[in-house]
Formats: sequence, C-alpha cells, structure tokens
Amino acid sequence: MPLVWNDSLLTGINIIDNQHKELFKRINELLDSAGQSKERVKELTGFLQNYIINHFGTEERLMAKTNYPEYLAHKDSHDKYSQEFKGLKDSIDREGVNISLTVKMNNLLIDWWINHINKVDKKMAEFIRDKI
Ligand SMILES: [Fe+2]
Ligand SMILES: [Fe+2]
Repeated sequence: MPLVWNDSLLTGINIIDNQHKELFKRINELLDSAGQSKERVKELTGFLQNYIINHFGTEERLMAKTNYPEYLAHKDSHDKYSQEFKGLKDSIDREGVNISLTVKMNNLLIDWWINHINKVDKKMAEFIRDKI
C-alpha cells in the first residue's frame, strides 16, 4: 500500500509542503523496495532518515522563530517518531522490506505521516502562517 499524496494535506506553507511531498515520494520508494539489493534499501533508509531530521528541523525552527505555544509538544512528537523510525530503519537494514515488518511500516511510514500532517502540522501552520 503506498502513501498517497492528496492536496487536502497542504499546510499552505511552501517549504513545508514541498518537503512533505518529497518525503512521500521517498517513503513510497522504500515501501516499493522489496526484492531490491541490501545496498539500495540501505541507501533509501539512510536518505529518508536524514531527510526526516532535516524536515523536523525546518518545522522546529519556524515554531521557535514565531514563539509557537505548542512548540514543545510538537517537538516531542518529532523526537518520539525519530526514535521509532530508527528502530524500524535498523530492522529494515538488517532484514530488508518483508512481510513481518508490514504492520510497523504501515504504522510509521503511512498512518503516522497522514495523522501528524493533518492534526499537528496543520495546526502549527495556521499559527505561523502570517508570522513568517
Ligand atoms: Fe511535517
Ligand atoms: Fe511536524
């Protein structure tokens, strides 16, 4: 199952929306990587990990700059995700994309992003939109 982009996920902040779209693309490449070489899969998980760290950093800088009142809770959600993603990345790097990781991959690579963007990022965007 792919992670499907849909314009209802737009936050209205270009830099964030562009990063989300790129993330979806890269996540789908990973979801599609069953049967590919270990090196290729490692390349995808490594890129994704860096991109996620960079993306969270972009949002956190914007929240700090605009004194967003829910900064800490939002950052906490990013930090927890980063930890969980690292666990998933280690498993994928070890075992490749396989059926035993399906539930974890669906949770962390699909459901989490849709939920986080819809609930947490959109709320942030509403506050910071006219302050940046
Ligand atoms: Fe985001
Ligand atoms: Fe976020």
